[in-house]
Amino acid sequence: MKNKKAIIIGASSGIGKGISLGLLENGYKIGISARRKERLDEIKKLNPEMVIVKEYDSSTEKNDKLINLLIEKLNGVDLIIYCSGIGIINKELDYSIEKKVNNLNVLGFTQVVTHAFNYFLKKGEGHIVNISSVASEIGNGISPSYNASKAYQANYLQGLRFKAFRMKMPIFLTDVRPGFVDTDILMGNKDKLFWVAPLDKACQQIIIAIERKRKIIYITKRWKIISLLIKILPERIIRLFF
Ligand SMILES: NC(=O)c1ccc[n+]([C@@H]2O[C@H](COP(=O)([O-])OP(=O)(O)OC[C@H]3O[C@@H](n4cnc5c(N)ncnc54)[C@H](OP(=O)(O)O)[C@@H]3O)[C@@H](O)[C@H]2O)c1
Repeated sequence: MKNKKAIIIGASSGIGKGISLGLLENGYKIGISARRKERLDEIKKLNPEMVIVKEYDSSTEKNDKLINLLIEKLNGVDLIIYCSGIGIINKELDYSIEKKVNNLNVLGFTQVVTHAFNYFLKKGEGHIVNISSVASEIGNGISPSYNASKAYQANYLQGLRFKAFRMKMPIFLTDVRPGFVDTDILMGNKDKLFWVAPLDKACQQIIIAIERKRKIIYITKRWKIISLLIKILPERIIRLFF
């Protein structure tokens, strides 16, 4: 049987690394990218034949080149996953910080998914996955750009789902919305947070959602409760937490 092929952007740590390892175990050939090459090389060492590595800064608006290169080296691709993301506490509301977050979470994301969608249009099928967040559903006073960028991602993916439906194309778009997962992005604050999912458990659930071509998935499932509360509670209550 032909190997399935996937590209994972932001594979050097956390959720992107976990998904990469899971797909590798499931027999995928993978093209992985991020800035920390040494970490990508550790994944390659596990199965050199099945892993293509490309060190890349995805905040630079040259992601079309990155995706083209990985597609060429993999000789085609079935699944493209955007896991790169940053969130920076910005109590002073410094514009340069907001711009840094948006460059990766908005511009880099948009370039990867538009390029992926257009590639799959030509190919006639495909699957795009993005890791947004439960944060996509509410504003945040201490890191406004993070939550706003995640709202953009979730909305954008829904738009592309509508587009694929209208075009009657079998292009699937999966929006993964984690609550808290135990990765570096929590910056050592794990103990101050609640419902922090172990990384392995989160990645297992994400891989199942990918296999099932789910539209939206909460990681872990209980975060759907928070999503519902965000929708029904008045802002005067919600603002006490954000
Ligand atoms: N963990 C959580 O609680 C949680 C909750 C909700 C959503 N998420 C989302 O999940 C995604 C993955 O985050 P994570 O939790 O796995 O954190 P992480 O371990 O910090 O992973 C972030 C990934 O983004 C990559 N990245 C950062 N800047 C980049 C750049 N300029 N160019 C290319 N890649 C870059 C990093 O690679 P390099 O530094 O090597 O470039 C790394 O591979 C993010 O979008 C995050 O917002 C996480």
